[in-house]
Amino acid sequence: MVFHVLTLFPEMIENGMQTSITGRAIEKGFLHLDVRNIRDYTQDKHGKVDDYTYGGGAGMLMQAQPVYDAWDSIPGKGIRTIYLTPQGRTFDQMMAEDFAKEEELIFLCGHYEGIDERVLEETVTDYVSIGDYVLTGGELPAMVMMDTISRLLPGVLHNEDSADTESFQNGLLEYPQYSRPEEWHEKKVPAILLSGDHKKVDEWRLEQSELRTRERRPDLYEAYMEQKRLYEEMHPPKRRKR
Ligand code: ADE
Repeated sequence: MVFHVLTLFPEMIENGMQTSITGRAIEKGFLHLDVRNIRDYTQDKHGKVDDYTYGGGAGMLMQAQPVYDAWDSIPGKGIRTIYLTPQGRTFDQMMAEDFAKEEELIFLCGHYEGIDERVLEETVTDYVSIGDYVLTGGELPAMVMMDTISRLLPGVLHNEDSADTESFQNGLLEYPQYSRPEEWHEKKVPAILLSGDHKKVDEWRLEQSELRTRERRPDLYEAYMEQKRLYEEMHPPKRRKR
């Protein structure tokens, strides 16, 4: 996967992405990061990339020319271009799975009051928000998306299993987990996890996931139960022969 990032703060993206698991994935070649500084593409001789908005109002707007030229400098056509904005669709695991199917993605990070609408019309395929709050720029949201997408790519996580058993992959939150010691602060690890009975462990974990989701995320639980109802309607339990 190649992540192209258009930003005024390239060091923020590079520092963030070169750390931890994404950093290792870049080193190993599972991920390629191509960060372009929008300022390098301005035709303004003072290096300016922003200006006042027509019609008045507070704040500056990123101008069309440097943004377009930075975008246009990326080789290849038809690459999905994501603009990070509170006006976008809210990012979730399903969107991450969809984006993870692409070979390349372009993230366009805005600053100030945003970007001239005309260049967005010509470049952006996906408007994405990471939640209903306003950040100072698109860099953190782009990193949130890149991190989420990265861990779905083959080779990025050590253990191939871990990407699909975790929270959200089956519409439920993850069950509680324990490591050594068996007792800590007078709290014991649930006995079933020490039993060696894998079937029982799996059943316990599913039950815990369901309980936890019902308690902490009733919205997800409702969607999960609805899916389960639909599934059971389409796959009714077979009648036993008399
Ligand atoms: N830019 C500023 N706030 C944002 C948000 N919540 N999501 C995506 N991009 C943003």
